[in-house]
Amino acid sequence: MPLTRRKMKQFCLFGVATLLVFVLYKSLASTEDLQPNALHRDARDNEILPLASGEHRNQQAIIEQQRKELAEAKAKIREIEAKLGRLEANVPRKYPDVRFLNYKNRKRILITGGAGFVGSHLVDFLMMEGHEVIVVDNFFTGRKRNVEHWLGHENFELIHHDIVNPLFIEVDEIYHLASPASPPHYMYNPVKTIKTNTMGTINVLGLAKRVGAKVLIASTSEVYGDPTVHPQPESYWGHVNPIGPRACYDEGKRVSETLSYAYAKQENVKVRVARIFNTYGPRMHMNDGRVVSNFILQALRNETITVYGNGKQTRSFQYVTDLVDGLVALMVSNYTQPVNIGNPVEHTIEEFAVIIKDLVGGTSIISQGAAVEDDPQRRKPDITRAKRYLNWEPRVPLKVGLEKTIEYFRRELDRANHSERNVFMPDNKSKKSEKILV
Ligand SMILES: NC(=O)c1ccc[n+]([C@@H]2O[C@H](COP(=O)([O-])OP(=O)(O)OC[C@H]3O[C@@H](n4cnc5c(N)ncnc54)[C@H](O)[C@@H]3O)[C@@H](O)[C@H]2O)c1
Repeated sequence: MPLTRRKMKQFCLFGVATLLVFVLYKSLASTEDLQPNALHRDARDNEILPLASGEHRNQQAIIEQQRKELAEAKAKIREIEAKLGRLEANVPRKYPDVRFLNYKNRKRILITGGAGFVGSHLVDFLMMEGHEVIVVDNFFTGRKRNVEHWLGHENFELIHHDIVNPLFIEVDEIYHLASPASPPHYMYNPVKTIKTNTMGTINVLGLAKRVGAKVLIASTSEVYGDPTVHPQPESYWGHVNPIGPRACYDEGKRVSETLSYAYAKQENVKVRVARIFNTYGPRMHMNDGRVVSNFILQALRNETITVYGNGKQTRSFQYVTDLVDGLVALMVSNYTQPVNIGNPVEHTIEEFAVIIKDLVGGTSIISQGAAVEDDPQRRKPDITRAKRYLNWEPRVPLKVGLEKTIEYFRRELDRANHSERNVFMPDNKSKKSEKILV
């Protein structure tokens, strides 16, 4: 039966409708794939992209991990903030009075061993004079708390460094004090003591040569050994046992002096050599085994005060601020030969025991112990040179110095924890007269 026109038109309309239904179905099916939980946003352009289910799980794990790390970081920051708070509470906000020096008079001064007993008092003096002070120390016998009252000051810097290794730094003057000083400390590692006083001194003199700095070497009365001349002038060559228990220190210092004059002669380095005699004062080591600290400690604890040997051997002790004045006077002077810096007032060890016992009070008794090997019998400086060339002599009377030292030791013994500070603050009033100042 032939198709009528009308039927053909109906057939075509049916085909078009079927096609439209198919297209509509397809588009609906593809929209179903875009479920909300299968979406993620591309961080860069905010474009919505579909994720395969494995990738989605990875993404969730990463987000979880990042949340955990963020929480840990926040906890650490809170911990550090609390620590900073505690530190700020301990660091004194008010520094001791510091004089202002303009750029022409202000010097950059390096003090090796500046965190030690003598070094820290020298730091106080030079800081208060208005100089820039750099301390280099390996903290073998020194302590940060000896200089903690300067931490954060714009003129002060503390460097943890062992002077056995070379040091590169720009300075005008160097006080080379780095070396263990008391017998138990220098005998603890004799080879290291020799290295510090030989290689360390070479490094310091090398630095002085490179930057044209003036250098002062802290030598010792021990270069005289067990002296046969009394009192000891600088011209005396000494009586040292080169293989005895003290030799690492005595001979180390002797080489240190020899090196200084070799650099002066060969390399034109400006050197000053201070032969330091026994010194005492606040911040000295309580357990250094030396007479003053031993006796004060024993007296404060009401223990027996032990005098080694017969007690007739003599010592002369200078208070630490007198020594600092002497070192500064030597540095600014034009005198290049070694100079004794010590207190010539001589006492027997026995006398010291009695004086300290009386100042402390308490119930200690004084008794005798066996003599110590190589213990020098007499030690008293001839300070004619220091008087003539530096216009220097000690000023602090023994009892005044001992009282300050006993007070420091007493506070040290009373301390029960770190937050109880025993910071010995420098005293502006006890500064030396203007004439020796830089
Ligand atoms: N105190 C005295 O009675 C006396 C007497 C004679 C000479 N001296 C000399 O004076 C200087 C200071 O003596 P002190 O009584 O202050 O002694 P100290 O032990 O208190 O100070 C010495 C300082 O040198 C540091 N030091 C040691 N080896 C070092 C190294 N290799 N590198 C860097 N730093 C190092 C120590 O950590 C310490 O801070 C020493 O050279 C000592 O020989 C002191």
